[in-house]
Amino acid sequence: MTTLLEIALRSAREAGAALKQAYARPHEIKSKGLRDIATEADLEAEAISIGVIRDLCPEARFVSEESNQQLTDYGDLPTWYIDPLDGTTNFARGLPGFCVSVAVAVSGVLQAGAVYDPLTDQLFYGERGGGAFLDGKRLHVSARDTLMESIVLADWPREQAAREQSARFLARLAPKVDAVRSRGSAALGICAVAAGWAEAYYQYILGPWDVAAGLLLVQEAGGLVTDLHGRPFALGQPSWLFSNGAVHQAILDMNPFA
Ligand code: IPD
Ligand code: CA
Ligand code: CA
Repeated sequence: MTTLLEIALRSAREAGAALKQAYARPHEIKSKGLRDIATEADLEAEAISIGVIRDLCPEARFVSEESNQQLTDYGDLPTWYIDPLDGTTNFARGLPGFCVSVAVAVSGVLQAGAVYDPLTDQLFYGERGGGAFLDGKRLHVSARDTLMESIVLADWPREQAAREQSARFLARLAPKVDAVRSRGSAALGICAVAAGWAEAYYQYILGPWDVAAGLLLVQEAGGLVTDLHGRPFALGQPSWLFSNGAVHQAILDMNPFA
């Protein structure tokens, strides 16, 4: 039998291979709203990702960015959270930094996840209780415990009020930390925390498809995940803080919603 992790890996890899090919071609860009686009490659990668999962897991249910964003309780049926192209703005502009994110939950608990960056050929993955890995190497969050030695990653919400809130918080946070980075792909930003490359990642508005795989990886790498109020996470919440645990409270103490 193919495990849920094996299915996630195959789905992410095959969709990612299609993205890599499409990256080299001109794109059809459709606007979905303010600062929100989809390309032909988002749809192609989604069809591939879902197709692989359907073949290997016929009882699968899907929450997938381009075809079904509705969070539904499917009980013990494997529920797959897919972002077929995370970092679409980068992709559409030719700026490197995008990936496929695939995760699966059973009875509301994430079981396995994979994030694949086809340009670097880096595959982040993990299983509940089995650890997080990058290309076979076990991942651990960093041990840095002060803001001044921390790299903090953040991306930008599309919605105007949240964008301005995020800018206000960054203006207070940036002087306190070693560096701030914005990758333009939430899933890759979250994986950087799991890998110990950065101490924290935050965003004011993300969907479950953006975070599901990375969330499991940060937990399996020993990190901490809450919303930006410091409350325990729930997949449908808007705001997210992923960290190594050691700098989590110091970031919350700066009051992201001031
Ligand atoms: C977006 C990216 C971006 C983040 C946005 C996401 P998409 O996903 O992860 O970094 O700031 O909030 O929606 O649209 O490229 O899949
Ligand atoms: Ca996304
Ligand atoms: Ca996407």
